[in-house]
Amino acid sequence: MDPQQRAIAEEFDRYKESYDQAVNRAIAFSGQKVEAFTRAKADDLLRTIASHFDSAKRLNVLDVGCGIGNYHPFLTPVVGTVSGVDVSSACIEKAGERNPAVSYSVYDGDRLPYPDGKFDVAFCICVIHHVPPDRWQQFVNEMRRVTRAGGLIVVYEHNPMHPLTRKVVHDCEFDRDAVLLTMAQSRALLESAGCAEVATRSILTLPPMGGFIERLDGLFARLPFGSQYRAIGHVR
Ligand SMILES: C[S@@+](CC[C@H](N)C(=O)[O-])C[C@H]1O[C@@H](n2cnc3c(N)ncnc32)[C@H](O)[C@@H]1O
Repeated sequence: MDPQQRAIAEEFDRYKESYDQAVNRAIAFSGQKVEAFTRAKADDLLRTIASHFDSAKRLNVLDVGCGIGNYHPFLTPVVGTVSGVDVSSACIEKAGERNPAVSYSVYDGDRLPYPDGKFDVAFCICVIHHVPPDRWQQFVNEMRRVTRAGGLIVVYEHNPMHPLTRKVVHDCEFDRDAVLLTMAQSRALLESAGCAEVATRSILTLPPMGGFIERLDGLFARLPFGSQYRAIGHVR
């Protein structure tokens, strides 16, 4: 493994048992917990999938940089299969204990351990800002490689334009080396990987409080004020 990538993997290994607590400490000022953000993004991902495919139950979905598998309890009842992959072997061990229905792998951060076109959907959530910037394109190219023609790549990232997001990243223990990427940079990575109809939108402009508040969030999708954003690319 590349030494810089190994250091990142070892850093996340240390958070195998305390990942959620570390995030909760950084976002405590917001009055929200990591579970609320996780559920809100899982809902957004499932809505995105539902709007692109006829039947989610037939889909093979890959979570790249899945960490301890926080998103997988929301996905396994809805899609066909869920696979998760990460450079942190300790996080993958924890994810496997929590989600026995998911197929997990560890890899070196270079080539994903799957054949070309294996998945209908590949997604990553708050991962690219932990990847060394000179490896960002390779990371997205690999997501593209393992996704079939007609499939979808979905990237969720922190919005570096949002002051409270920058505060959270500054205060979060495992974000010390994070390099945030703009919506335009994510868009360019997907386009350079060969994706078509690349689109970005703000999410979580309003806090993840569920119900009416969360439905209102869609009104702000075109404005650059979300605390996070979603970028999608179609594989042709
Ligand atoms: C902030 S955590 C996010 C975990 C999970 N996606 C979530 O949102 O709960 C970032 C994760 O990215 C992983 N990671 C870092 N570099 C990676 C790479 N090149 N490929 C895959 N995962 C990577 C880390 O090990 C860590 O689990």
